[in-house]
Amino acid sequence: MANIINEPSRTFGEYLLLPSLTTKDCVVENVDLKTPICRFKKGEKPQLTLNIPFSSAIMQSVSDNNMAIALAKNGGISFIYCSQSIESEAEMVRKVKKYKAGFVISDSNLTPENTLQDVLELKERTGHSTMAITEDGSSDGKLLGIVTGRDYRITRDPLDKKVKEFMTPAEKLIVGKEGITLSEANDIIWENKLNALPIVDENFNLVYTVFRKDYSEDKDNPRSLLDDQKRYVVGAGINSRDYKERVPALVEAGADVLCIDSSEGFSEWQADTIKWIKSKYDDTVKVGAGNVVEKEGFKYLADAGADFIKIGIGGGSICITREQKGIGRGQASAVLDVAKARDEYFEQTGIYVPICSDGGIVLDYHITLALSMGADFVMLGRYFAGFDESPTAKIKYGNGYVKEYWGEGSNRARNWARYDLGGKAGLQFEEGVDSYVPYAGKLDDGLGSTLHKIKSTMCNCGAKTIKELQQNVRLTVVSSTSLTEGGAHDVILKNQ
Ligand code: IMP
Repeated sequence: MANIINEPSRTFGEYLLLPSLTTKDCVVENVDLKTPICRFKKGEKPQLTLNIPFSSAIMQSVSDNNMAIALAKNGGISFIYCSQSIESEAEMVRKVKKYKAGFVISDSNLTPENTLQDVLELKERTGHSTMAITEDGSSDGKLLGIVTGRDYRITRDPLDKKVKEFMTPAEKLIVGKEGITLSEANDIIWENKLNALPIVDENFNLVYTVFRKDYSEDKDNPRSLLDDQKRYVVGAGINSRDYKERVPALVEAGADVLCIDSSEGFSEWQADTIKWIKSKYDDTVKVGAGNVVEKEGFKYLADAGADFIKIGIGGGSICITREQKGIGRGQASAVLDVAKARDEYFEQTGIYVPICSDGGIVLDYHITLALSMGADFVMLGRYFAGFDESPTAKIKYGNGYVKEYWGEGSNRARNWARYDLGGKAGLQFEEGVDSYVPYAGKLDDGLGSTLHKIKSTMCNCGAKTIKELQQNVRLTVVSSTSLTEGGAHDVILKNQ
C-alpha cells in the first residue's frame, strides 16, 4: 500500500513570521549571520563558517570566478559550476584563490595595431574605459601602453586611427612592481593623481591593474570570507561520475569545499562519491551532498559522511522536474522535515550536519523563512543571476535590461551528470528551462539591501543570531485571501 503523507506540501509563500518582543539591544548592527557550512562534533567549533548564510547555485549562468569573488567579498560562498571540463573548472577555482583584493586581472586589452573603433567596441562590451595595451593583446603580455577615455575625442578622431597613435606609451607610464602592497599602490595612485596603476613583473609583463576605486571598495568589506592565507574562500561542484579525476584537480587548485551537484541525491552513487573522497583525503576535503527532501535521504547522506546536505527538488525557478517526473516537495515542508532530522541526528550522534535550502526563493523574506525553519544557509540561482557579476550577458529588454538564466537540466546546459542515474549517460528529456531574469545591478548593493531586510526581520522576531531565530520563531500559515491583504490593495498606485 502506498504510504501517503496527508500533510500538504507547502511553499515559503504560505507562511509568515510572527513578531516577538524586541529588546533594545536587538538592533540590525548587533545581528550576527555567521553560520556553519561543514559538519562538526558537539562542543567543537565548525571548521568552515560563512559570514552570511548565502551560497550561489552550481550553475553555468550563476557561479563562475567573478561571482565567487564578489560573493566571498560579502561573506558568502559560490560553488563553481561543474558542467564544464575539469581543467576549466579548476582554472576558475585557481583564479579565485589567486585573486588579491584590489589587484584586478585586466579583461580589457588591445594591441597598438587595434583602432579607435576597437576601443569603443571593447568599452561597450566590458563597460570599462581604461584598457591595457599589450604586445599580444593578452592580459599578461608585455605592457606597451594604456588607453583611457581622455586619450581620444570621438567627435574629432577617425575611427580607423591606430591605438599606437593615441595611447599613453609605456615610457610615460607610472607603474608598480609585482609584489607591491595595496596600500603602496594606493599611495602611488594618490601622489600621481592616477586613476589606474598597472603592476608589471621584472620583464614588464602586465600582472594586475589597481584602480583608485577598488581600494575603498576593499576596505568597505569587513565581512569578506577568507581562508587562513587571506585568500577568498570558494566552493566547487562535482558529480558522481568523474569525481576520481575532478576532485584531485579541484583540491589541487585550492577549492575549500566541494558539493555533489545532483537533482536527486538519495542514491548509492552519492554515498560512493563521499566515501571515496573521505578515504582518499582523510576528512581534510569537505564535501556536501544532495538534494533530498525528507528525513530518510538526509540520514542516508549524513551516515555516508556528507559535510552538509542540500534540500530541494523541483522548487527552482527554472526547474520543471515536478512537471516532467512528478517528484519533489514544497520547499517549506522539505526544509521543516529535514531540519527535524538534522536535530534528531545531532541528539543521537553528537554530530551536527548543516543543511542548505536550495532553490525556490522568490522574495527576500523567503530567505528569513528558510533560516527560521531550520536551514543553516540557502542556495540561490535566480537571485544571483540578475547581478552584474553573473557570467551571462546583460541584454536590453523593453525599457530596461535583463540577464540570461538557464537551468542545468535545460538543453542549453546539457548537464547530463546532474540527472544521471548511473545507466546510459545522457539527458533524455529536459528538466529545466532557458529564461531571462530582471537585471539587478551590482551584487554589493542588492545583497546589502537583502541582508538589511533579513536582519531587521530577525530583530522583529527578537533574534540576534540564526540559532536564536530558529529556537524562538513562531510561524503562521497564511490563507489565500490574506495573501491579497499582504500586498498593496484597494488603492490606485501612482506611476503605473
Ligand atoms: P532558484 O534559486 O529558484 O533559481 O533555484 C536554483 C536551484 O535550482 C539550483 O541551485 C538547483 O538546485 C536547481 N536547478 C538548477 N538547474 C535546474 C534545472 O535545470 N532543473 C531543475 N532544477 C534546477
